Amino acid sequence: MIIAKTSEEFLAWRASLDSSKSIGFVPTMGALHGGHLSLVDQSIKDCQLSCVSIFINPRQFGKGEDLDSYPQDINRDLKILEEAGVDIVFVPNMDDMYSKDDSLLMSETSLSLLLEGKSRPQFFTGVLTIVSKLFNLIRPTSAYFGMKDAQQLIVIQKMVRDMKYPINIIPCETVREHNGLAMSSRNEYLNREQRDSAKVLYLSLLYAKELINNGEPNPLAIKGAIEKMLLSIPELKIDYISIADKNTLLEIETNITRKNVTLISLAVFLGGVRLIDNIVI
Ligand code: PAJ
Repeated sequence: MIIAKTSEEFLAWRASLDSSKSIGFVPTMGALHGGHLSLVDQSIKDCQLSCVSIFINPRQFGKGEDLDSYPQDINRDLKILEEAGVDIVFVPNMDDMYSKDDSLLMSETSLSLLLEGKSRPQFFTGVLTIVSKLFNLIRPTSAYFGMKDAQQLIVIQKMVRDMKYPINIIPCETVREHNGLAMSSRNEYLNREQRDSAKVLYLSLLYAKELINNGEPNPLAIKGAIEKMLLSIPELKIDYISIADKNTLLEIETNITRKNVTLISLAVFLGGVRLIDNIVI
């Protein structure tokens, strides 16, 4: 496995390739877990070559967020990726990705104002700017993103469509712990008891799905049921609960019908740790 620490090193490898080879790309911020690995495995299955990037992107963190404490273990990550059969890992530093007089941003001005964008106003511009730079350097055939971050995936699909990136975006299912908690690098902040309590996120989403499948059309009733389950954990604080159309991300205000593809998503703080999860119905 090649480890490219600079854009130049990456581009030298890229230039040496037979241009007919398909390249799968998995962008990450490291602290790899089973969720990341499922994306990597899919890329290896689909493509002749697979590239993973590891870069903790400061621009997508807001003031007071966890940039300084974001978990990292590069040696462990590299070992995992080598064992998985990745061809090249791109591990750039800050100065490489953002020159000192860097003054361009990639912003999406509609979908990214909702849900996560309301709570984390800098987030999607930060994500799109770095993903766009990585796409320009890596020039993959396909790029793999997790449904765990459903809105991120949808906003990236929009960027690729609107900005004409010739890249297939491949959505991958959320990978969960045994108790249903969605795998996340941030789960490392939780103690054992909190990890157990955190199963309530997925359980409340499954309950909402059951209510809808049993014919409950009222989004307020469903949000109320989710809220009640979540608040059974005393130290949990709700950031938002959303029941939205999966394509427009607009809240469904009246009736949930079989016509909508519905995205139920939520964000909570558990002992100060921000967790998100979602389910598509
Ligand atoms: P990161 O949180 O490291 O996630 C990298 C990729 O792994 C994302 O596509 C994310 O949706 C996916 N992923 C995370 N947990 C998952 C799970 N439990 N199941 C399936 N996929 C999962 O998302 C980012 O990094 C950054 O925003 C990034 C796109 C790299 C830009 O900086």
